Amino acid sequence: MGYNVAIDGPAGAGKSTIAKLVAKEKGYIYVDTGAMYRALAIHFLKKNIAPENTDAVIDACGDAEVSIRYEDGAQQVYLNGENVTSMLRTEEVGNMASKTSAIPQVREKLLELQRTLARENDVIMDGRDIGTNILPDADVKIFLTASVETRAKRRYDELTGKGEACDLEQIAKDIADRDARDMNRETAPLKQAEDAILVDSSHMTIPEVVSEICSHCR
Ligand code: DC
Repeated sequence: MGYNVAIDGPAGAGKSTIAKLVAKEKGYIYVDTGAMYRALAIHFLKKNIAPENTDAVIDACGDAEVSIRYEDGAQQVYLNGENVTSMLRTEEVGNMASKTSAIPQVREKLLELQRTLARENDVIMDGRDIGTNILPDADVKIFLTASVETRAKRRYDELTGKGEACDLEQIAKDIADRDARDMNRETAPLKQAEDAILVDSSHMTIPEVVSEICSHCR
């Protein structure tokens, strides 16, 4: 049985940045479950399936095989044998993942993969329902959040830093919409587990958040 740290929270709270750093410091494997939902989203997009077409999405799960490998310590996501890691982080894929991840059969598809990784390795696993649903017996549960304004500003800085034109208000609206979708769906909604430690990073630096989380971990 691996040592398991669950880290859940809304989009843009910095889960992946923080989890990667904690993984490095503690020698855990970092498991990004959002990337798995994004890989399935690519499969649905390739097939031109609308996320509202639940039957077609469920049907398409039948011929999608998502797997994870670690290359130089970094998670690589494969969809039907193709490495799709570099295609995961677009708004189109994120929105498709947010919508289709509300479908129970989509979640079911990824459950065993996530649990097996946690059983066989020491992991820090990030997502929305890791502490509540996937790993209810995780050794440490963190709920990492930040205000919508803070998360929007971070995303804005990231995009403008890459030279991409964007609008702060629109980003804030997208983040609020995504939160509402992730928190209000019927299956495995985003919520803080009762035994999770709440970390609000709105006014914390990255090293402060990493150190706070590491202080709770073995
Ligand atoms: O963390 P992310 O932005 O890469 O996740 C993309 C979408 O996938 C997110 O909007 C909700 C969904 N997701 C989920 O439902 N459960 C998870 N454990 C991880 C992600």
